[in-house]
Amino acid sequence: MKILITAGPTREYLDPVRFLSNRSTGKMGYALAEEAVSRGHGVLLISGPVSCQAPEAVAVKPVVSASEMESAVLAGLPDADVLIMCAAVADWRPREEALQKLKKDQMSGVLELERTPDILESVKPVRRAGQRVIGFAAETEDVCASALAKCRRKSLDMIVANDVSRADAGFESDDNAVWLITPDGASEEVDLMAKSGIAKRIMDWLER
Ligand code: CTP
Repeated sequence: MKILITAGPTREYLDPVRFLSNRSTGKMGYALAEEAVSRGHGVLLISGPVSCQAPEAVAVKPVVSASEMESAVLAGLPDADVLIMCAAVADWRPREEALQKLKKDQMSGVLELERTPDILESVKPVRRAGQRVIGFAAETEDVCASALAKCRRKSLDMIVANDVSRADAGFESDDNAVWLITPDGASEEVDLMAKSGIAKRIMDWLER
């Protein structure tokens, strides 16, 4: 298969030195890329700013903002059999980005924001029949119900749900505990394990 994977956070700059972002480290997306190439699949990894290292067989397209990630996904999509949206895309960006570093007295204490593009929503109308799309859901309450609703709303073939309120899993951890949820409401619980193990379970699901 040809697999398009997104990983890491996006950054939404308000000036050359300040940005909005989140706690994603990219470990899950890079683990997926590594597992996929080890099984002989082709991978294009669209990565936000992270310090992970991809194996040589993985083609990496670095991006910074949600809108750059959206362009890269839409450019790579026609050639892909599978899209795995593992990235923690920032949902909001500053309404304006200053070209020079803002001085304290130029800032009011209120930051005006606007929505970033929802990449999975942009993919929906242009994806080919037979192309499979997997999303991730980072939740802190009603994890499975919220993830299932998201899976259906975004027309996904599967969503990987995780409870990011756990201290021993998820963001910034080497481990995760997830549920693999399909739009029919079926779910498979994957107990706490290394992200490399979670990547194996996701690839097993895809290959099945
Ligand atoms: N996602 C995306 N574009 C965005 C935000 C999220 O494509 N601007 C993708 C993520 O990569 C993930 C899925 O949507 O695969 C769910 O992301 P999540 O942040 O959990 O959900 P949201 O749609 O942002 O919903 P909410 O913030 O209301 O929970």
